[in-house]
Amino acid sequence: MIDLRSDTQTKPSQAMRQAMANAEVGDEQEREDPTVLELERRGAELLGHEEAVYLPTATMGNQIALAILGERGGELIVEERAHIMVAELGGAAFHSGLQTHGILGYRGRLTPAQIREASWTEGGFWGPRACVLAIENTHNTAGGTVWPLDELQAVVTTARELGMRVHLDGARLANAAVASGVPASEIAGSFDTATLCLSKGLGCPLGALIAGSRELMYLARMEKHRFGGAMRQAGIVAAAGLYALDHNVERLADDHARARRLAEGWAAAGLAVDLELVETNFVQVNVAALGLEVDDALERIRAHGLLLSVTKPGTLRAVTHLDISDDDVERALELVPQALGAHVHA
Ligand SMILES: Cc1ncc(COP(=O)(O)O)c(C=O)c1O
Repeated sequence: MIDLRSDTQTKPSQAMRQAMANAEVGDEQEREDPTVLELERRGAELLGHEEAVYLPTATMGNQIALAILGERGGELIVEERAHIMVAELGGAAFHSGLQTHGILGYRGRLTPAQIREASWTEGGFWGPRACVLAIENTHNTAGGTVWPLDELQAVVTTARELGMRVHLDGARLANAAVASGVPASEIAGSFDTATLCLSKGLGCPLGALIAGSRELMYLARMEKHRFGGAMRQAGIVAAAGLYALDHNVERLADDHARARRLAEGWAAAGLAVDLELVETNFVQVNVAALGLEVDDALERIRAHGLLLSVTKPGTLRAVTHLDISDDDVERALELVPQALGAHVHA
């Protein structure tokens, strides 16, 4: 099977496993694990912040950020298809007492005017105060799209002027940095908190980082403990993170090039692919345009030896990653249009 469902499907390479096997470890909860401490040092540097905290997952990172930045009963402003909104089981309300105000973005991006409008209240004490803005870069459900730096900074500045704190869900920040040529530290540095996931395109079996000021990371460690995320000999997995930072960041450009090749090839074969949206490692195929239901389309593709996923009604998603080779791309170029009967419409 050629697994194009998500970059979460990467499996640790032999070299990564070797690094894990050789890791020096200690008690992470006591901050005695040298490998975790080194990963946190590298993560802080990469994300342009004073300190970083190693976590099991990026969802925990987002939830910790909302818990330490938000005020109970206050409002979280977020793009309406962001991961925090659609895939964290209402955690903002559940854990942090936040009322979520979703706004429809353009390619996952919001404007300063939208932030101003969303945070407006009529002024009485009864109006919920907008206290946190969360931004996602790259934006998953929009198609792995990247925020231009000037737009991102304009939104952060506006949110601060309005008294909000700002969080960056940078699960795929490394993809954004590689695709735009802007260092991750420059993208993430102006936020109060920023997360990075290690288990997607970076190829680790698990792990994420949250970064921010020393004071905020003190609070983040408390929340991590509360969520049950403080670990013991976690260096065994943190070693994978260090390996990934050394070997798997720049190569994301290969995944992006493969996604582009897939998108162009599929479009040429008659599939409805919006090439403009292919900025990183995601390709979206509108199968409704072929008159197919997504479940039927997925099944036909599976029968041809490939796995894709669904991101929105009528649309399938293919994601390139470490375990997808040029040969896999060539096979997918041939087999997916065949499976969907696209040649009939080409
Ligand atoms: C944008 C975004 N944020 C956060 C997450 C959560 O990551 P994890 O599965 O590590 O909790 C994901 C996972 O797909 C994601 O796409």
